Formats: sequence, C-alpha cells, structure tokens
Amino acid sequence: MQRSALYTILFATAVCIVCAIVVSSAAVSLKPAQEINAALEKQRNVLLAAGLLEAGEKIDAVEVQRRFENIRMVVVNLETGEEATDIDPATFDQVRAAKDPETSSVAPKNRALVQRLPDHVLVYEVLGDNGVEGIVLPIQGYGLWSTLYGFIALDNDLETIRGITFYQHGETPGLGGEVDNPKWKARWVGRKAFGEDGQPKITVIKGPAGPPAEDPYEVDGLSGATLTARGVTNLVHFWLGDEVLGPYLENLSRRRAT
Ligand SMILES: Cc1cc2nc3c(=O)[nH]c(=O)nc-3n(C[C@H](O)[C@H](O)[C@H](O)COP(=O)(O)O)c2cc1C
Repeated sequence: MQRSALYTILFATAVCIVCAIVVSSAAVSLKPAQEINAALEKQRNVLLAAGLLEAGEKIDAVEVQRRFENIRMVVVNLETGEEATDIDPATFDQVRAAKDPETSSVAPKNRALVQRLPDHVLVYEVLGDNGVEGIVLPIQGYGLWSTLYGFIALDNDLETIRGITFYQHGETPGLGGEVDNPKWKARWVGRKAFGEDGQPKITVIKGPAGPPAEDPYEVDGLSGATLTARGVTNLVHFWLGDEVLGPYLENLSRRRAT
C-alpha cells in the first residue's frame, strides 16, 4: 500500500515531537539529581585533597556529610582576604559567581587563561583537635583542551601540600586526563607550594622528580601531556599567587602568628 507524501511528513513530524518531549522531560526531571550528584562529587574531591578520603574508597552521601563535620566552609573576599560573613557558604556557587558580572570582574592577565574572577571564593578549613589542621583551596585554569576545576590542600604550615584533585576537565583520557590518576596526584603530597620568597614555586616538570624531601618544588611530568602539565603549574601558581588567594593566605598566616 502506498502512503501519500503528506502522510509520511506528518508521521515523521509526530515522531520527532514525541521524541523531543521525551528527551526534554528526561533532561528537566533528571537535572536536580544531576546537580546533587555534581555537588557530592565536589565534596568527595574536597575530602580527597584534604586526605580525608583514600583514592578508590567509595563512600555514600551520608558518609560524605559525616566526614564534612570536621570541615568549616568559609566564603572569602578575594580583595581583602577576609571572611565574608554575609554570604552563606552552603548556598554560595563560586563558578556561577564568576560568570555573573555583578559578582565578578575581569581577571588580570594570567597564564592559567582565567578570564573572570569571582569577588568571593569558597575555601574549606579542616578542623582537628588543635584547631585548623589544613585548608582546601579552589584552583581552576586552562590545560590543553579545557578548563580544569579542582582543589589543592595545604597543611597547617600553609606551605606543605596535603593533596590535589581535579573534579572536572576535558583533557584527553590517558594523556592530559592523567591529572586524575591517583598515583600522579600522590606525587604532590608532602612537597612545598611556596619558595623562600613566599611566591608559588611548585612546578610540574618534564620527566621524573626526586622524593619530596630532596626535590620539594618539583612534581613528575605527565608523559605525552606536557601541555596539560604546564597548564596545571600555571593554574596552581595563579590561584596561590598574590592576584587571587595571596591576601587570604597572608591574613591566615598573620592570624596564626598572633
Ligand atoms: C588526539 C590527541 C590528544 C592529545 N591530548 C593531549 C592532552 O590532553 N594533553 C596534552 O598535554 N597533550 C595532549 N596531546 C599531545 C600534545 O599535542 C603534545 O604533543 C604533548 O603535550 C607534548 O607532550 P610531551 O612533550 O610529553 O610528549 C594530544 C595529542 C593528540 C594527537
């Protein structure tokens, strides 16, 4: 039986409309769950950087919240380096703030290729028996193909690296994507973020670095991914430097000294 051309067009249109409705309703209904999962993944990365979660250890949302009981979230004003007590850390979204011209400004020229900086950022203080034992700081910047988002954690001396993680990036799996490799991330632990002049010094080199005690400022390169590795050095230097978290770190060390 032969169908008319009109019938074929109407049938194809109806199928398209039904499919579009199914796909868009799925996208809308799954969005809240995706957002919750993304927030949870971010929290897991904070714990990983802080050394409160082992690489490969699987923990559910309840356990994440339990481990977060030892973490104080602090919204920091980047310009003053002071805590912004008028902003609720629980609802503050740093990435969104960086996109909104009302809550961000054009970043100074930087090698991490960050275009805009939020006025405020979220940092995490790791609390122990003797007060703050470490801090987890946001880092972000360009690798080869994508913007990498992650955290770097420092010990109480505000110098020794506790850990580094990336919770979002689009680098090539097996090459730049090795920034996710727990073995590579472990190479950062115990090294020094800052040189004697107080400026960020830790650098991902090409090839292997020595043990932290002998080679505190260098981290093993990523084989076949020198450009991503260079991006990681650049973004760590930018965020730990005077133009971003410097005033906060200075405040913190001044407070420690008094
Ligand atoms: C398909 C493809 C994907 C690549 N992805 C990355 C990457 O994610 N990060 C990176 O630094 N280099 C990547 N490279 C390699 C770079 O082009 C460049 O060769 C490399 O960074 C140089 O590093 P090496 O000096 O350690 O070999 C990729 C190359 C190809 C062909």
